[in-house]
Amino acid sequence: MSEIHTFLKEARLFPPPPEFSDKAHVRHLEEYREMYARSISDPDGFWAEQAETLTWQEKWHTVLEWKVPFAQWFVGGRLNLSENCLDRHASTWRKNKAAIIWEGEPGEIRVVTYGELLREVCKFANVLKSLGVVKGDRVGIYLPMIPEAAVAMLACARIGAIHSVVFGGFSAEAVSDRMNDAEAKVIITADGACRRGSIVHLKANVDAACHSIPSVEKVVVVRRTGETIEMRGGRDVWYHEAMAQASATCPPEPLDSEHPLFILYTSGTTGKPKGVQHSTAGYLLQAAMTSKYVFDLKEEDTYFCTADIGWVTGHSYVVYGPLANGATTVMYEGAPNFPRPDRLWDIIERHRVSVFYTAPTAIRSFVRQGDDWPNRHDMTSLRLLGTVGEPINPEAWMWYHKVIGGERCPIVDTWWQTETGAIMITPLPGATPTKPGSGTLPFFGILPEVVDKEGHKVPPGQGGFLVIRKPWPSMLRTVFRDPDRYVDQYWKRFPGSYFTGDGAREDEDGYFWIMGRVDDVVNVAGHRLGTMEVESALVSHHRVAEAAVVARPDELKGQALCAFVTLKAGAAGSDSFAIEAMKEELKAHVAREIGPIAKPDDIRFTDALPKTRSGKIMRRLLRDIAAGSQTIGDTTTLEDFSVLAKLREDEE
Ligand code: PRX
Repeated sequence: MSEIHTFLKEARLFPPPPEFSDKAHVRHLEEYREMYARSISDPDGFWAEQAETLTWQEKWHTVLEWKVPFAQWFVGGRLNLSENCLDRHASTWRKNKAAIIWEGEPGEIRVVTYGELLREVCKFANVLKSLGVVKGDRVGIYLPMIPEAAVAMLACARIGAIHSVVFGGFSAEAVSDRMNDAEAKVIITADGACRRGSIVHLKANVDAACHSIPSVEKVVVVRRTGETIEMRGGRDVWYHEAMAQASATCPPEPLDSEHPLFILYTSGTTGKPKGVQHSTAGYLLQAAMTSKYVFDLKEEDTYFCTADIGWVTGHSYVVYGPLANGATTVMYEGAPNFPRPDRLWDIIERHRVSVFYTAPTAIRSFVRQGDDWPNRHDMTSLRLLGTVGEPINPEAWMWYHKVIGGERCPIVDTWWQTETGAIMITPLPGATPTKPGSGTLPFFGILPEVVDKEGHKVPPGQGGFLVIRKPWPSMLRTVFRDPDRYVDQYWKRFPGSYFTGDGAREDEDGYFWIMGRVDDVVNVAGHRLGTMEVESALVSHHRVAEAAVVARPDELKGQALCAFVTLKAGAAGSDSFAIEAMKEELKAHVAREIGPIAKPDDIRFTDALPKTRSGKIMRRLLRDIAAGSQTIGDTTTLEDFSVLAKLREDEE
């Protein structure tokens, strides 16, 4: 495993505070170890027991049918996810408990109780039915972070429609790609979204996208910003008008355990984004269970996860996991630094948030803004902190621990993926001593291993590829309508094991340290992007001949995108003004094609890209150049040495 080196050495150890452990769901490392050992030695018994915590309409007969790599969990069972998240709470004292505390960017606050949420979901499920949506149909959701987004997801789940949420920051093109692949029948959107004091025109994007999505029959529009929009007769329906007509009674459809719950598009190494498909029962069980154990959720908690529902974290840990537990989840619509850098601390103070879950990239930007902003706020309500999305550098971890957590809150650094559906490697806050920068130990039932190229486990301390040896309930079931891609992408490289695409190291204590992606997928500000996608966006510009996109380290975003571009002959002027203008044009083009998050940070023009004799772009070399580090190693396979020289010159 010579290609993965590890340099990080971290000796600090933070045992869980005894006051925390005393009240936690899991109180000692030994208790975790016992439960974990049982979950691995008797997975059927363990998962069967856990599945009892869900409400079933018909009990399953077989825990797992595993025909590598296709899993079916809780075979023969029937249940409804929305019933598990709503009815079973609304029929108890929790009826008037806050399910969602929502705060709009301009400052409005809405508290939606379990009883109200159930009514809204039933009504909207009936609206969907009246629009012709039936079980198995795909419904696109392209909404801001407003309660209606949760309503839309849960309403789909109630009738067995498969939702596919598209992040509100994505462009019309991205909406059209994804919705075409999903063959969405209905899209739910809003007039606009409030973002950093201005408006994102969601409806206009949907209108533009719909020109090229023949499957879409209806567009439901939530009024959020009140701006004037065009409503197309026969196709577009106002949410509030349809809801006013709808009945609040809608029995939860009994759905097969394996019924697809959602498709979420994510970046892969090649080609277009893939539709990661999740099931109902297994997904729900693990989202619910991890929420309970990792966030140590208690009845009186006010839990706040800053993720957008456009990402898997928003699915599992803003909506489904917390609601399955009957918890109160805070949903914030806008930018974390609007109108001032202390918006999140302000939310924590005003709503007395007790559990806070965010991304390392956000933490790094808070570090930059200085301690004054958080120090202005009383955040003593916090008892637990979490991170997700990318490795957290130990210094950012220490800042989070001291400045936000007041040195009293455990930090759960949670490793997982869109494909895994739920948290896989994580501390349990009352049990696991933490080390800054490590995701620590596997969750119950999860068997990760670090292996070499041949798939053999490497000794502690050595870097390698992270694989998962056993199936788990919330694993993706397939890539939507593309089982071959599912097999190729995840199961081919290490037959019988799931390949995560991440490099990792396990230390002497069995703690896992994630070292980032080993494939051509980069992680920019906690968002996974396939460099291929950015390359094809660049190449779709009429002046671009070829492009290679690589990542370079970035202090704030973790990784930044650097694009090496060759233009068609005569496409760029030679003066610096024309070159700068071309760079800006290409950045804007990528933003239009995919969305602003995919905009390259650097664009460098070159006459030709460095290639091996077999024609493969030498990405390692480009990465070194992008990072400004010395090129080491063998470059004799370069087709054209002058290219390297030229790029090098460019660097000076
Ligand atoms: O590289 C890992 C990184 O994010 C990837 C998954 O990205 P995505 O599917 O977009 O899901 C993000 C939210 C679950 C992983 O392959 N990653 C995620 N969490 C961590 C992480 N890297 C290090 N530490 C983490 N805690």
